[in-house]
Amino acid sequence: MTDKKATLTIDGKNWDFPILTGSMGPDVIDISTLYKITNHFTLDPGFTSTASCESEITFIDGYEGVLAYRGYQIEQLANEGDFLETCYLLLYGELPTLSQKAKFDSQITQHTMLHEQMGKLFSGFRRDAHPMAIMVGVVGALSAFYHDSTDISDERQRMIASMRMIAKMPTIAAMAYKYSIGQPPIYPANDLDYASNFLRMCFAVPCEDYRVNPVFSRAMDRIFTLHADHEQNASTSTVRLAGSSGANPFACIAAGIACLWGPAHGGANEAALNMLNEIGTPDRIPEFIARAKDKDDPFRLMGFGHRVYKSYDPRAKILQKTTHEVLEALGIKDDPILEIAMQLEKIALTDKYFVKRNLYPNIDFYSGITLKALGFPTDMFTVLFAVARTVGWIAQWKEMIEDPNQKIGRPRQLFQGSNIRNYVPVDKR
Ligand code: CMC
Repeated sequence: MTDKKATLTIDGKNWDFPILTGSMGPDVIDISTLYKITNHFTLDPGFTSTASCESEITFIDGYEGVLAYRGYQIEQLANEGDFLETCYLLLYGELPTLSQKAKFDSQITQHTMLHEQMGKLFSGFRRDAHPMAIMVGVVGALSAFYHDSTDISDERQRMIASMRMIAKMPTIAAMAYKYSIGQPPIYPANDLDYASNFLRMCFAVPCEDYRVNPVFSRAMDRIFTLHADHEQNASTSTVRLAGSSGANPFACIAAGIACLWGPAHGGANEAALNMLNEIGTPDRIPEFIARAKDKDDPFRLMGFGHRVYKSYDPRAKILQKTTHEVLEALGIKDDPILEIAMQLEKIALTDKYFVKRNLYPNIDFYSGITLKALGFPTDMFTVLFAVARTVGWIAQWKEMIEDPNQKIGRPRQLFQGSNIRNYVPVDKR
């Protein structure tokens, strides 16, 4: 807290509100007493000016293009560490020592298998079900299989549920994929690292040996790290809001997955790749750019713009390099989709419309291309995002549950509907 105050004047009456200072980022006016003392609410659709909580996990400076987990910049974590190290950091607040890391990696590895009966759930879905629909259902159903970790007041159970979800999410995602293509599920291989194990569960078949290409597993690991957390985005806020009622962690993460599915959030990489395919050839780019600028056309350039980053998304920069590494390992030099992507990027970085509105390529722009090159169909893209973001959702959920000042989330509204009126019986209307 500082000595600074914000004064609000309503009808000639003044009220002071404390201004809080974070360790980084803009100061915050604490209006938690506003309704009580002034009988007014604030209106902020989309929460563009609202901090919903205090957090120590992830910091973003959207104007400088900074993203840091627990103070460590994303560039260092993605280039020098691995995903499970990032998971440890997000959950416990510090990077692990060598022995802590070995123990954590082994604990996650020991929990990768699913209760065998859960396999039956998959066969209840249509083969052509979107894998995100399966994820929402199956992750929500975890609470029916792991009752012994649903008591949120027990710290140990909270941690067991957290480990279970980080460990089992790749298995669920891979099973959803295998089911959709009519192949048998591949059980996890606990001698592999997290990303390699996931790639193997997705792409191996029981009748052949499968060796994971280290360039691909490194790319997968990096994609997981880059997506691990992103402070109070829509799905994380959904998880916190669901959890604020005391719902069990599996149900909360299922709610987060449902929110992530939307094209304005996690569905954007799928939408970005679909858009690149729709453009098809570079000569059609001007037509799509014109549509993106046309106010009467709802079309937007998918993979461009961000609610928070008003400069280059730092994750996009890292992934751009990874995209090239994967394409090189596959021997793809003149990929038409990549060529369209590069030209679009160049245009958006120089065109007045995009420059004026700070519409830079975001992470989804590159992740779609990389995931396609790794062999994933587009409808799996958001699923992979969900696998990666699970640790962020859990860390944020735990932080909320462990906050002594935590309350149920309950926003209010500016009511614009009908005034009170009398009921008229149906035969008299
Ligand atoms: N293409 C064309 N115009 C755009 C785009 C776009 N992708 N994004 C924003 N604009 C325009 C918008 O029309 C508006 O113009 P004007 O000021 O003339 O009315 C201006 O830019 C500001 O747009 P906004 O909708 O107020 O911005 P926002 O911060 O609310 O929206 C966004 C952020 C991500 C929803 C939006 O940029 C968008 O729809 N992008 C495409 C979808 C996408 O790539 N989403 C992934 C986001 S990153 C994933 C994650 O971190 O979860």
